Amino acid sequence: MAANYNAVGAHASPYGSGDPYYNESSGFITPHPVKKRTNNWVKIGVPVLILVIIGAVVGGVLGSRASKNDTSSNGETGSSRGEAAASSAASIKLEVGRFATATNSAFMMPIYPSTTNTAAFTTPTFNPSVNNALAWPKDPFQPSKPDPLTPRTDRPRLIAPSYKWQALPTLIKSDPYLKGWNETIFANATNYYGQQPVRYFMDGDSGILDNAREVKMRIKAFAYVFLMTNDTKWVDRTWAELQNAAGDGPTPFGPDDDKWNSVHFLDTAEFTAAFAIAYDWLYSQWSDTQKSQIRTTMIKYGLQPGVTAFTSSAGWWRNNITGNWNCVCNGGLTLGSLAILGDDNTGIAEQLLGLTVPNAKENCARATVDDGTWAETANYWYFGSTGHAEMSSALLTATGSHYGLLDVNPNFFKTGVYHMYATGATSLFDYGDHGPNKFSSTANSLILYADQYNHPEFALFQREQHDAAEPWSMFWYNPTISGAFWDGAPLDHFFDNALDQWASMRSSWTDSNSLYVAVKAGKNQGLQTHNDLDVGDFVLDALGTRWAGELGSGDYRSPDYFSSEAQDSNRWKYYRKMTQGQNTILINRENQNVLAAPTVKHETSGTTQGSSTVLDIPQDSTAYWTADITSAYFGVSSVKRGVRLLNARKQVLIQDEIASQESVQWRMHTNATVSIDDSGTSATLSLDGQSMKVAMLSPPDGAKFSTSLAQRFESDPTPPIPDQENPGVTVLIISLPAGTYNLQVLFNPQWSGMSDGDFVTPKTVPLDSWSLTSHN
Ligand SMILES: *[C@@H]1O[C@H](CO)[C@@H](O)[C@H](O)[C@H]1NC(C)=O
Ligand SMILES: *[C@@H]1O[C@H](CO)[C@@H](O)[C@H](O)[C@H]1NC(C)=O
Ligand SMILES: *[C@@H]1O[C@H](CO)[C@@H](O)[C@H](O)[C@H]1NC(C)=O
Ligand SMILES: *[C@@H]1O[C@H](CO)[C@@H](O)[C@H](O)[C@H]1NC(C)=O
Ligand SMILES: *[C@@H]1O[C@H](CO)[C@@H](O)[C@H](O)[C@H]1NC(C)=O
Repeated sequence: MAANYNAVGAHASPYGSGDPYYNESSGFITPHPVKKRTNNWVKIGVPVLILVIIGAVVGGVLGSRASKNDTSSNGETGSSRGEAAASSAASIKLEVGRFATATNSAFMMPIYPSTTNTAAFTTPTFNPSVNNALAWPKDPFQPSKPDPLTPRTDRPRLIAPSYKWQALPTLIKSDPYLKGWNETIFANATNYYGQQPVRYFMDGDSGILDNAREVKMRIKAFAYVFLMTNDTKWVDRTWAELQNAAGDGPTPFGPDDDKWNSVHFLDTAEFTAAFAIAYDWLYSQWSDTQKSQIRTTMIKYGLQPGVTAFTSSAGWWRNNITGNWNCVCNGGLTLGSLAILGDDNTGIAEQLLGLTVPNAKENCARATVDDGTWAETANYWYFGSTGHAEMSSALLTATGSHYGLLDVNPNFFKTGVYHMYATGATSLFDYGDHGPNKFSSTANSLILYADQYNHPEFALFQREQHDAAEPWSMFWYNPTISGAFWDGAPLDHFFDNALDQWASMRSSWTDSNSLYVAVKAGKNQGLQTHNDLDVGDFVLDALGTRWAGELGSGDYRSPDYFSSEAQDSNRWKYYRKMTQGQNTILINRENQNVLAAPTVKHETSGTTQGSSTVLDIPQDSTAYWTADITSAYFGVSSVKRGVRLLNARKQVLIQDEIASQESVQWRMHTNATVSIDDSGTSATLSLDGQSMKVAMLSPPDGAKFSTSLAQRFESDPTPPIPDQENPGVTVLIISLPAGTYNLQVLFNPQWSGMSDGDFVTPKTVPLDSWSLTSHN
């Protein structure tokens, strides 16, 4: 049966029917229970819904969950934890070591050993009964009625409470991931130590966000190393960074009345979070004067602008904004408020906590739609989910509840599934705005979500990634974890929310040379102005490289880049954002209709990977996805696109059925060198020492491949400023006049050991007749 969980409604697993954590008979209780594991010996503390009325100062009502039943940790004391059991469990873990042996230098993807010795590569599990000795101790702070205004009394209170610091050195010794991450964080902190405090740089529309992110990243590392060493040089170095970002350092730092650039509130929020961590994690080290200075700076440049944002139109991001802005802004203000709660006598921390928590529940928590897809782009997922995870974690540790932030949206947990399936063999399905590294954001929210939502595969996946090593992971990681994320993981997944409608299909989870194809339909509006006009767009990986790829973000400083999502928006005049700049059909050289509302259909053989990293794919293993994308175009009777895997997932067919009154182009952007053969109907793409043959099947009369640079047609309307160049990118094109066509383009990656005769040439089957067996 097709693993289409949407077909069976809300009572379904995020993975489809193969999900080992899903109980078919009970389904998910709404909301999806957070931390629902129970141990035999811990039966107390079943979550109860309690309403906490915040006093008049705050004026808000927060739904509150009683202290979570933290059964991943055990209630035993040191003496009963069993030294022998500990050392045996630890030695098994250490012997297995980290699965990924290296990171690919071009794409930074983990390289997994090729092994059929599957003893350790079993079902993802949190296994306190076996790994009990490796568990975090039980949190001594278990308020029976959590209240955001009643924080734990010991420090740190944000994300990493002291009982975890005490346990960490022992856990590091017994877990190879914690051990490796600890070393990397020390190395990173040492590297930042020798650098000058972050210099103020106003980067156009991006403000001083990169400054803020860098300060936050450094402070996390400095404070971490201090707490692991007690060497006060890290406190001094943190102070130098704080002083500089408060305008008291060696170089100027912004205007006196608004140093943290509150007009671009992300900057303000990230600085506030950085100061909050410094204040809280190094609390024992600051003099009263220093504490007072940190608070004053944080209030003046962070929290007070936060109140202004909530009480004026300046805070546009708090009004129905389901994306990174809401998560990051509320998150930073929450960390800042929690850090100073009790020390500050202005009331501002209390006031803000009454505003940020309900607002993030209304907005940030809805940034994941019901299929798990982030409402912006796969790239913004990093920033937004980091904000959400930091805020949830800080509320949990500081006050004993996340107040619903983790489960007010019963589908939020699927965001882990989204990220895993958006991650291709070489890189993300990087549709829409996709920019450079966002310093302080990683995919480590997955490590928190794994533990909170009882989806260990999220953490098993993320712990192999290059960005896993940072302080948050050390505390979010549940060391009782075991197994392999790929064991039982379906190779395909379809995301069906009308907003995104996309497919992810692959030939392996662990072979970086595997085939990966992702394709989308979805809407051209309602995506926080981070999307492209890209219905039908796809990416294709094989042989360790990306053959069909994305151009990413334009320059955010370009005038009108974010002006609107309307049909006549200047945003759609920039090549990277217009339909021409996508791997899809272009009609009449015109942009797609912003009101597109496609429909999709799909099926999969439901193939899952087993515990081995070496897959033997059955010959009938396949998947396909078709979309009626007519509504995305003007001047057509019909446009349909289908993508399917052939020949045990070694080949890909892209089929387009078009009836158009206007000219037609099939377009694909590639970094490969393209060589078109004499017939004009096939081409060889060469890239990174590999090759891919692309051929039209039953080519329509006159259909020939051609190529062009990735740039606008002379006839296009002029954007406010010239486009960014796309060096090295070639567009592979099929140009046709108005007419009715069935265009079939077959992609044959030249796998080693495969000869021409090993590739299949499928028969022509109309898209409406595609089925799992239609091409056998
Ligand atoms: C963490 O890493 C540092 C640097 O490599 C090392 O000196 C320290 O011993 C490690 N901590 C533990 C608990 O192993
Ligand atoms: C942290 O250190 C690791 C290992 O030395 C390095 O690969 C990585 O780039 C560093 N990260 C940052 C943000 O400096
Ligand atoms: C650092 O100091 C604290 C508090 O005195 C102590 O509990 C901890 O063990 C010390 N850590 C190290 C690595 O010396
Ligand atoms: C919030 O935005 C969504 C989609 O962007 C829209 O459908 C909805 O009507 C908006 N709600 C409010 C209260 O403005
Ligand atoms: C070209 O390669 C760069 C670097 O890997 C990548 O970011 C970009 O998406 C690629 N472009 C295309 C069209 O594949």
